[in-house]
Amino acid sequence: MKLWGGRFEKETDALVNALNESISFDQRLYREDIEGSVAHAEMLGKQGIISMEDAAAIVKGLRGILQDIENGKIAFTTENEDIHMNIEALLTARIGDAGKRLHTARSRNDQVALDFRMYVRKEISVILEQLLDLETVLCRQARKYQTAVMPGYTHLQRAQPISFAQHLLAYANMFTRDVTRLEDCRNRLNECPLGSGALAGTTYPIDRWQTAKALAFDAPMNNSLDGVSDRDYALEFLSGLSILMMHLSRFAEEIILWCSWEFKFIELDDAYATGSSIMPQKKNPDVAELLRGKTGRVYGDLMSLLTVMKGLPLAYNKDMQEDKEPVFDAVDTVELCLPVFAAMLDTMTVLPENMRRAAGKGFINATDCADYLTKKGMPFRDAYTVTGRLVAVCGAKGLTLEELPLEELQAVSPLFESDVYDALKLENCMALRASCGGPAVSETTRQIEAVEAFVQNRKA
Ligand code: ARG
Repeated sequence: MKLWGGRFEKETDALVNALNESISFDQRLYREDIEGSVAHAEMLGKQGIISMEDAAAIVKGLRGILQDIENGKIAFTTENEDIHMNIEALLTARIGDAGKRLHTARSRNDQVALDFRMYVRKEISVILEQLLDLETVLCRQARKYQTAVMPGYTHLQRAQPISFAQHLLAYANMFTRDVTRLEDCRNRLNECPLGSGALAGTTYPIDRWQTAKALAFDAPMNNSLDGVSDRDYALEFLSGLSILMMHLSRFAEEIILWCSWEFKFIELDDAYATGSSIMPQKKNPDVAELLRGKTGRVYGDLMSLLTVMKGLPLAYNKDMQEDKEPVFDAVDTVELCLPVFAAMLDTMTVLPENMRRAAGKGFINATDCADYLTKKGMPFRDAYTVTGRLVAVCGAKGLTLEELPLEELQAVSPLFESDVYDALKLENCMALRASCGGPAVSETTRQIEAVEAFVQNRKA
């Protein structure tokens, strides 16, 4: 007989049971469920809603169940539908009537809202740690390659000289935003729905501040309908994870390009690459490709929950049971991807000479050539045209700008003098880009220190 069996005359159809059950996946919430029930029982006892003896028996019983679950001694059953009813049934089987008093002044609706919120809060902390570790790896690699000149790209066409450090630090800044985005989500979600009841609060003299405090929330949620039907925090979490995966995916795409023979800017460690079953020469960046591919799953998780929620009238509807699997899937995906990605970056071999060689072709110092003339007094727009003409001359002769003899440069503009060759040296072009946020060593050093301070601040 179901816990809610009172008004029913027939057993539930077996297929309905299969559709209705959530224990197969929401057992992941057992810890949060028990913590929430302990806080609720203690509050009921303190408020005199149940006796102190019953409260104590409940708490003791729940702690025993927690231990038995963690030792693998408990088999959950779909007969009891979900984690909440499984634990309540176990409790009652162990301690009798006191167990039946636990659900006083509570509903599964505020119970599940509480459990899920605490679960998301916990997983945010795990993911934040992983993000900080990834940023630490990026800083370590960036420190090593502050003077390694590589071509910076727009439209995947060589554009201007940057350093490998500058490129890595761009991602470090994205991950910093991912951290603060998830922190925002965690701050906003930290209000306690427990005590919202089924939807309309309760007639019992509960103390919502006590349970909120006991469960490390800042305050109780303000509105009981909102308390049971809000899933914004899960959506914010999934949005944050989607954006984070988008960052990983862009980075993965570049790793894949850099591993190709066309680039060969890096080589992955054997532990983070795979071979081909037929082509003996192959070393494939499967890890990066999988991360890029898994981004789609996480977007899908966000879209499924947005879609579940979009038409729901207040307050609780069973549709909302569908909130969990997408969030679990996104958590599993992200928590696997982040450490693998960090380790892959940490162990890769960087090939600065190949970057430098690539930087040498493609006229990525053309802007610097125009700037040279501009600094000698020519209006920038004219300098741009003159340099364009020089690029065309070089193209026809198969030379780079710095390979053109001075006479040929002067034939196009008398402003060229022998110091132009210094101005065209890629190392100088990069080093002189010392504007705030630029690739000059002074600026990459500042950036690395800023990221390191950000990480330190949170690890402390
Ligand atoms: N397993 C349910 C869920 O995940 C718990 C809430 C059920 N409440 C209800 N009134 N049927 O949403």
